[in-house]
Amino acid sequence: MPSVDDPASVRYARMRWNTPLSAEHADLLLQRLDIPAGGSVLDLGCGWGELLLRAVTGSGATIGVGVDTDQSALARGRRAALDRGAAQVSFVRQAAATWRRPADRVLCLGSAHALGGTAAGLATLAELVEPGGRLLFGDGFWERTPSPEAVKIFGADVLSLPDLVELVRATGWRVLHLSTADQREWDDFESTWRAGRQEWLLAHPDDPRAEGVRDELDTRLREYVTVYRGLLGLGYFVLGR
Ligand SMILES: C[S@@+](CC[C@H](N)C(=O)[O-])C[C@H]1O[C@@H](n2cnc3c(N)ncnc32)[C@H](O)[C@@H]1O
Repeated sequence: MPSVDDPASVRYARMRWNTPLSAEHADLLLQRLDIPAGGSVLDLGCGWGELLLRAVTGSGATIGVGVDTDQSALARGRRAALDRGAAQVSFVRQAAATWRRPADRVLCLGSAHALGGTAAGLATLAELVEPGGRLLFGDGFWERTPSPEAVKIFGADVLSLPDLVELVRATGWRVLHLSTADQREWDDFESTWRAGRQEWLLAHPDDPRAEGVRDELDTRLREYVTVYRGLLGLGYFVLGR
């Protein structure tokens, strides 16, 4: 865990990755992605690139590139690559929408917004997967008709799962695999999102920043259990074309 004196630096410290996904579910997705030894893997909006690192080191891919705009996430990814001797994985600070170099396998999990949204992202990603390649795409969807409060938080562009599947097909992709995050993956995601700063709060109750951190964590937990728990879904697609 980074410096426990700074609540900002521990924000993501307890998260394996920044998406509701168990390690077992991730293994299944990477298996379905079928990454060829000697191939290349690109992760757009990679965060700290934990899934990218597992994808590359577990497959014998020889090139892995993670692209994100968050400096501290990229620094965490570079440290992890160094620790694991994964010199074939590099991290680039760049807006995902400006990336042009294709790869054999592309990951884009929870980051379609960085490509202009779901529809624009699916179209852009088609240009970035080499012919015969595959895309692992993770995106939110409504499990049922959303409340106005939920739309206010997540925006009007979130689709139902059937509509998301139709959009994927209409953009020219074939669905090789589809699975969704279950309730425990969501609960763990939300809990680990809060945990870094929750632990900081318990250790620093009188810090001048404590009130602001407490408010943010309480608001998020309240919104989760009252507005979007069981309503917002996350779909994982392995796609080919
Ligand atoms: C929900 S997180 C997902 C991170 C990662 N894919 C994962 O599963 O752990 C979304 C990521 O998109 C990144 N992001 C936001 N805008 C971006 C942009 N314009 N270009 C590249 N990355 C961006 C954020 O910094 C963040 O790391």
